[in-house]
Amino acid sequence: MSGKVERMVKSRTRQQPRSTVGGRDTSTSWQPIFTGAIVAVAVSFIVLVVVAADSFGGSGGGDGGAGVSPTETAGADTSTPDPAATGSPGNTDPTRTPTNEPGPDGSIVVACNDILAPLDKQHRLPADCVPPDLEEVPGAISAQGAQYLRTEALAALREMFDAARTDGFVLQVNSSFRSYQTQADTYNYWVQTYGKEQADRTSARPGHSEHQLGTTADVGARGQFLEDFIGTAEADWLAENAWKYGFIISYPDGKEGITGYAYEPWHVRYVGQAVAADVQASGLTLREFLLK
Ligand code: DAL
Ligand code: ZN
Repeated sequence: MSGKVERMVKSRTRQQPRSTVGGRDTSTSWQPIFTGAIVAVAVSFIVLVVVAADSFGGSGGGDGGAGVSPTETAGADTSTPDPAATGSPGNTDPTRTPTNEPGPDGSIVVACNDILAPLDKQHRLPADCVPPDLEEVPGAISAQGAQYLRTEALAALREMFDAARTDGFVLQVNSSFRSYQTQADTYNYWVQTYGKEQADRTSARPGHSEHQLGTTADVGARGQFLEDFIGTAEADWLAENAWKYGFIISYPDGKEGITGYAYEPWHVRYVGQAVAADVQASGLTLREFLLK
């Protein structure tokens, strides 16, 4: 490509009349400098395009090696969601996921509003997908200010939290609905903090997060969230009982090779009581169950 640029520059130079300044022929002395500048600009442009293509690369990213475990979110999605403002259809008809073929970037776009849509490193939601019936999580069970879940998921979560309280455990929600943009900011934060390989073990790329469904919550207790929640009595309670209320722990211990994500005992996704009971009985991860 630089050769082509050079040829173009030379051919243009040949067609132009020789210029003079003060009677002195300058074309011979300026030609190499001008040619060099054009080539430098062309090379810089190519480098810029290559770097940009890498930054905005498609979905994917394998399991990383052992290392630090960053927390899941750089911040909660505290803005009031407005489906209309995002261009979301806002319809209330659950739509089954279409069986799409992968697009050119390898990703498969699933239906907005399908609470059983598989979401992993290949399957993703449309960027403008915002659930139509988000409700604010009551302050008493929120550890992050204003945050939102879909009506049915929130009702089930409250039922689960009530049952936990009866057993002596006070649970809280640390993160719930996250828009495409919030997920993008979160993922980019972890890439900048820990690098892409580690970020891909713990944070979904925008469009690929179950949090965008509005049916997924990160649960903690006694000020212990995310990695601090691991090994607590509340985490044990959640692992044993979540399915009874329609929730599944999407990323169980030792299943990173299947789910694509490190152990997250705090991350529960609502799929409804009947499906959750089937997932629990199957012994499969939620990803395997939804894709079978
Ligand atoms: N931490 C999970 C994978 C998410 O970002 O949705
Ligand atoms: Zn989560």
